[in-house]
Amino acid sequence: MPSPLISKYNVPGPRYTSYPTVPYWDNETFSLKNWTSDVIKSFGESNASEGISLYVHLPFCESLCTFCGCNKRITKNHNVETPYLESLQKEWELYVEMLPQKPIIKEIHLGGGTPTFFAPENLAALLRGIFRFANRAENPSFSFEGHPNNTKREHLQVLYDFGFTRVSYGVQDYNTEVQLAIHRLQPFINVKRVTETAREIGYTSVGHDIIFGLPFQKREHIRYTIEKTKELMPDRIAFYSYAHVPWIKGNGQRGFKEDDLPTAPEKREMYQLGKQLLEEAGYIEIGMDHFALKSDSLYKAMENKTLHRNFMGYTESKTQLMLGLGVSAIGDNWYGFAQNVKNVEQYQELVAQGILPVYRGHKLDSEDLLIRRHILNLMCRLETSWESPKMQFPELAEILENLREMELDGLIEIGADSLKVREKGRPFVRNVCMAFDLLLQRSKPGTQLFSMTI
Ligand SMILES: C[S@@+](CC[C@H](N)C(=O)[O-])C[C@H]1O[C@@H](n2cnc3c(N)ncnc32)[C@H](O)[C@@H]1O
Ligand code: SF4
Repeated sequence: MPSPLISKYNVPGPRYTSYPTVPYWDNETFSLKNWTSDVIKSFGESNASEGISLYVHLPFCESLCTFCGCNKRITKNHNVETPYLESLQKEWELYVEMLPQKPIIKEIHLGGGTPTFFAPENLAALLRGIFRFANRAENPSFSFEGHPNNTKREHLQVLYDFGFTRVSYGVQDYNTEVQLAIHRLQPFINVKRVTETAREIGYTSVGHDIIFGLPFQKREHIRYTIEKTKELMPDRIAFYSYAHVPWIKGNGQRGFKEDDLPTAPEKREMYQLGKQLLEEAGYIEIGMDHFALKSDSLYKAMENKTLHRNFMGYTESKTQLMLGLGVSAIGDNWYGFAQNVKNVEQYQELVAQGILPVYRGHKLDSEDLLIRRHILNLMCRLETSWESPKMQFPELAEILENLREMELDGLIEIGADSLKVREKGRPFVRNVCMAFDLLLQRSKPGTQLFSMTI
């Protein structure tokens, strides 16, 4: 990748797990009343046909990884498990009470933090509590994030018995110097053990998360990490660009100095090398950040054009209603988003009072809904079209004019009524989305809200 392109397009930019992106939510006009009435409306429109999704945030981790951008609470005290699970149950019941029928659950994702911080029997209690008030869809897609250092066979078995068939493990990098810098010592043997155990039990998709751009990381570390990864051939690989957002996470990420981080061109070279090695090993790039084997359901979703993107990242199909349970969890009822408070104690107090613990959100207007479709098309299919009058809007001509330079650089192809991201432009898909992001275009904030696109 020529470095002039990198310097030109490496700007702060969102990852587009939602549109509008969180910093552009209009929290002033958002109301809990509208959110709940839209949840009921969305449920009525979609529960019978496609089911609903649940995202459950399990925030606890025993030890702090200094690169981590997730919402987590570090503790070794496992007494926190039961009260937290009781609050999750109560929050779930607050939603169930407002729904006119029993929900049909199509997707569950247990994210964190570290879901495998919780004892297997506690995870079983959580799922029993959820299914007391819900039915399982016919072909459910249930997944969780496991930490290779603490995932036990019992975790995998208990969740498999509830219908979980997908697990993703945080690998990051196998080099010891990098692992020391990010405060996450994790030998290959642990990843091997949990990958093989998941397969023995019957999991059909095992994913590994690898990050490029970590402190002290070099190209040879990417090569080594991918060589080791090939010994296990996970079905999917999330190949994330390290998001350096220390202004959000305070001292948590400050376990290393700015100088210890690779430069943008070095980072891009790591991505190029990783992509090449993964493709040589039989992986196909899916949207942004993801690779999958052709046998994996994510690849099949891309082929069948059902790929969707939401706060969980890429998913195999779209459900109109996703409820988020737990601290910082974000729900999406298609007409709006709502995020829960981030503090564990505050979350538990609100739920104990019978109040939905939402603290901010956004209601989408007709323009937002239209731009959301274009951004989803770009993120999931690397193309969008305005052939249908419903996909047209007044600012489109100006957006296309602003994208001419990307076209001249050979990154995109603009047709009469469609736009395609070319293979060379794939690393810059976020930049294309940014051109369509009318809210971002209209307000140029003075402070940096997003990590760099590269
Ligand atoms: C919640 S963690 C995974 C589960 C478990 N806590 C673990 O660490 O193994 C989700 C994933 O987000 C990714 N991640 C976290 N912070 C990141 C950052 N600052 N930049 C890029 N990826 C990040 C990591 O790859 C991590 O595995
Ligand atoms: S990377 Fe995983 S284990 Fe580490 S702090 Fe973040 S959520 Fe916790």
